[in-house]
Amino acid sequence: MAFGDKKKEPTEIYLQNEKINITTLPKITTKELSKYNGVDIPKYYVGIKKIIYDVTSNSNSYKPGKGYNVFVGKDASRLLGTSSLKLKPNDQGQTFESWDYSDFNDKEMKVLNDWVEFFKMRYPIVGIVDDGEIKEEVEESI
Ligand code: HEM
Repeated sequence: MAFGDKKKEPTEIYLQNEKINITTLPKITTKELSKYNGVDIPKYYVGIKKIIYDVTSNSNSYKPGKGYNVFVGKDASRLLGTSSLKLKPNDQGQTFESWDYSDFNDKEMKVLNDWVEFFKMRYPIVGIVDDGEIKEEVEESI
């Protein structure tokens, strides 16, 4: 799929997304994000590389019971970059969280970045995943 096709005309949504200053985006914790699953909060949010997209306009693809519901309410970077609907261990048998792409090779990074372009063309950016320094410190120390 040529999602990252540079020849594609940018959409209105894309141009709006490009204008956003990331530092001004609402900060949403991983826990809060999990509620944007169409059930707890009637919106569908998908995070990619910490940037959160509102995919509610395409709820038919993301609602409960649909295959792509797995991407909702989380940072789904890992699933998207590995082209998988399930979190799988990597070749070394290590397991990772859905947001973690720290071990990605060039090919997986390219797939992930192509998805960024795809989502940026279609869906408005509404926030950034930010769990605050305390949680990050904990994660780093594990
Ligand atoms: C048999 C396997 C699959 C088929 C037949 C399939 C088919 C499709 C089709 C037809 C679309 C709509 C494309 C468009 O609107 O431009 C789509 C979108 C999408 N697919 Fe798949 N897909 C498959 C597997 C996967 C897997 C394994 C992933 C995991 C990364 C995935 C992730 C997505 C995502 C994120 C979208 C965009 C949904 C949206 O926002 O419109 N698909 N797929």
